[in-house]
Amino acid sequence: MHRLLDKVVLITGAAQGIGEAVARACVREGATVLVTDINDVLGAVLAGELGATAHFHHLDVREERDWAAVTTLALATYGKLDVVVNNAGITGFESGMVPHDPEHVSLAAWRAVMATNADGVMLGCQYAIRAMRTTGRGSIVNISSRSGLVGIPAAAAYAASKAVVRNHSKSVALYCAQQHLAIRCNSVHPAAIMTPMWETMLGHGAGRADRERAMVRETPLQRFGTPAEVAHAVVYLASDESAYTTGAEIVLDGGLLAGSAATPG
Ligand SMILES: NC(=O)c1ccc[n+]([C@@H]2O[C@H](COP(=O)([O-])OP(=O)(O)OC[C@H]3O[C@@H](n4cnc5c(N)ncnc54)[C@H](O)[C@@H]3O)[C@@H](O)[C@H]2O)c1
Repeated sequence: MHRLLDKVVLITGAAQGIGEAVARACVREGATVLVTDINDVLGAVLAGELGATAHFHHLDVREERDWAAVTTLALATYGKLDVVVNNAGITGFESGMVPHDPEHVSLAAWRAVMATNADGVMLGCQYAIRAMRTTGRGSIVNISSRSGLVGIPAAAAYAASKAVVRNHSKSVALYCAQQHLAIRCNSVHPAAIMTPMWETMLGHGAGRADRERAMVRETPLQRFGTPAEVAHAVVYLASDESAYTTGAEIVLDGGLLAGSAATPG
């Protein structure tokens, strides 16, 4: 317990799903948590439920002025920012299934995914480093994906954006080390985690259970992961337990990338 005691943690996209689970875990571990999201209603309800050590702030990761405002407020209020979890991300399928394969994805759809997943993480790392210079130390945890490690033909923009997150995390880690800052940066690579993100892709009605089973058929552990399982990895990277870990990646994929369907039987 209290592995994050006295730490000030900012989490993006924290109103639901993985971000919500990370916020819950960080509060449990003794941190002061800035729950941020573009969904003001859900974010405020969650912060209220989490109690006096959680506070909601509107932060659209695509908007530089939001980053400036929230990090300035954190420094003014707490005098430091210890952890930034760049979690907010979109698939591009939130309003329905549209073509995202390399031949048919529209430039607008590609840019929308990049704006949140890639630009948002770049800004998050930039403002995190600037805020963490106050103490010269901190931990940046970027939520990439299994899709950042392999190609996904039907979700090319998402996969490319998550590869950006993976690679940029390493540049940030090396830059901070070169600057003699004890600011670490690591990426987390979940595969299928059951969150609201899957709602449009899985749909509702009779076939839903079959579609869920089909999604994890190739996964050695034969199930979706849970947001809490991702939160455990984030707490480790956020805490001082991982003080010698930077530029690294943690994969939570039920064993998916350990082999492949083409593995000889
Ligand atoms: N669920 C999975 O299977 C899975 C797998 C791999 C990686 N991930 C990644 O984990 C992260 C969280 O995913 P999730 O499944 O919890 O998604 P989710 O859709 O359930 O939640 C995402 C949250 O981000 C917020 N958000 C969206 N755009 C934003 C913006 N511009 N600024 C701030 N907040 C914004 C949403 O309001 C929402 O609260 C994402 O980066 C996602 O790509 C998820």
